[in-house]
Amino acid sequence: MASVPSLASNVQQRLADALSAALPQAASADPLLRRSDRADFQANGILALAKRLKGNPRELAAQVVDAVGDDDVLADIEVSGPGFLNITLADRAITETLAARAADDRLGVPLADEPGRTVIDYAQPNVAKEMHVGHLRSAVIGDAMVRILEFTGEQVVRRHHIGDWGTQFGMLIQYLTEHPHELDHKESPGAGEAAGAEAMSNLGRLYKASRALFDSDEEFKARARDRVVALQAGDEETLALWQRFVDESKIYFYSVFEKLDMEVRDPDVVGESGYNDMLDETCRILEESGVAVRSEGALCVFFDDVKGPDGNPVPLIVRKSNGGYGYAATDLSAIRDRVQNLDATSLLYVVDARQSLHFKMVFETARRAGWLNDKVRAHQLAFGTILGKDGKPFKTREGETVRLVDLLDEAIDRATAVVREKAGKVGLSEEEITGNGRHVGIGAVKYADLSTSAVRDYKFDLDQMVSLNGDTSVYLQYAYARIQSIKRKAGGRSPVAHPELELAPAERALGLHLDQFGEVLAEVAAGYEPHKLAAYLYQLASHLTTFYDQCHVLSEDNPAEVVENRLFLVDLTGRTLHQGMALLGIRTPERL
Ligand code: ARG
Repeated sequence: MASVPSLASNVQQRLADALSAALPQAASADPLLRRSDRADFQANGILALAKRLKGNPRELAAQVVDAVGDDDVLADIEVSGPGFLNITLADRAITETLAARAADDRLGVPLADEPGRTVIDYAQPNVAKEMHVGHLRSAVIGDAMVRILEFTGEQVVRRHHIGDWGTQFGMLIQYLTEHPHELDHKESPGAGEAAGAEAMSNLGRLYKASRALFDSDEEFKARARDRVVALQAGDEETLALWQRFVDESKIYFYSVFEKLDMEVRDPDVVGESGYNDMLDETCRILEESGVAVRSEGALCVFFDDVKGPDGNPVPLIVRKSNGGYGYAATDLSAIRDRVQNLDATSLLYVVDARQSLHFKMVFETARRAGWLNDKVRAHQLAFGTILGKDGKPFKTREGETVRLVDLLDEAIDRATAVVREKAGKVGLSEEEITGNGRHVGIGAVKYADLSTSAVRDYKFDLDQMVSLNGDTSVYLQYAYARIQSIKRKAGGRSPVAHPELELAPAERALGLHLDQFGEVLAEVAAGYEPHKLAAYLYQLASHLTTFYDQCHVLSEDNPAEVVENRLFLVDLTGRTLHQGMALLGIRTPERL
């Protein structure tokens, strides 16, 4: 593993050195380097600096050029406009840097200097309930963040905070006691899609039936309420029945996660019930420290800036007046666990933006209690709503919430049709068509989610998602497959970097973009912004398309070194695409 400093950081350093040589007072000034259309880079920082020092910007810029002197990385540096510097790199420097990246398994991407430990709370469906589109976003964004952070060297602990506790279990358990065979499977449950579907249909049926009874039969209602008390008191028989609901739901959840091509490991599923034993103590600590106070019998935390429509403060209720604990007490206990037992330095919550007020209050409470501070931070990676084509929250034609599985199946069907249409040309077998259809369909859904900034709402539009043109995963997957096909056609010729060769404009543009991979990843990891990685990959594929248009790779007219060097660029692009897509949780089939 050898990390490779980017050309941009290299140029930045050279300019900073030249700047402080020319003008010692400017030692820590930022040359403000940007990619530019006119040259490879433009530095705009001298302008502001000269103004601040009451000097002449063009003169200062000229001094910097002199101070740079002869340089093997900077082929050309000239003053332009009011005092900008236009910088062109030596072709050799570009190719050599890319060759160093290619020689490294991690493409030269450095590990974080001081990795911490991040607990990510994501993919948190609710027991005995169907997963819907809202659960998709948390799973997809969370999974991408896990992969990205791990790639930067961060230690990641995954937590699936499933909704597995609450008063609704009284009703469900009581019904199951009275109808003991309702959760039986025709065959042994096992894993997989069929088992998942059967589990969810059992749970759905049981949920409906028990709800109907609960609403119509007062005596059943009373028995259900007693069950809640027994559950909370830890009655063994009741807990065993509760566990059956959790296990049944997991069969279903895991089947959906599998369809999503996402690994969810059993020990990482620590639902609300997992913090039960901590709730009392959490309340005691908060009350004793004065962070929480009693108000109308409930234990509450108040905030100056959180008020209801009537202007009265809205508290975070940690314990209700009837003694019951809610969502907030659980989340506060989970923070204690993650900070004190898991040694987290960051807590990341991938949760719907509609829960932002809840997290704002929970985090502030935890800060007041000292569980969060400058060394341990919490952040909600809040995401927006998935909308239908009409721009309203996504519903079926009958106005019901859309089941996630139906949606994924439809995406796979559409994608399979797209793959099939082109399959003849590539000579794909039926098995490959089905396999690719899954990867393209699931990839399309994930990419559509990841390519817009998380906090924004987006329209779920399958036509657009599986389109071959535009900012879609299919476009990126085809770009990758085309690279593989060129490599197959290359025959005996292999990718070899030739730093002595002059580069065409499209080669430079592609090369300079490839070189930015590590910097983009660092930014994506630091800001929890996977959409910037998606944007980077899309631009990479666009640079590749321009490169194909302008530079023939395997042409017989090319000298052997040119073919090798172009194959080298194509190969590095393929590896970068593959790595980037993998970090988003999206597969790149070899033949498409
Ligand atoms: N299960 C919740 C829901 O479906 C999301 C849980 C989010 N995580 C948390 N720690 N509160 O809305």
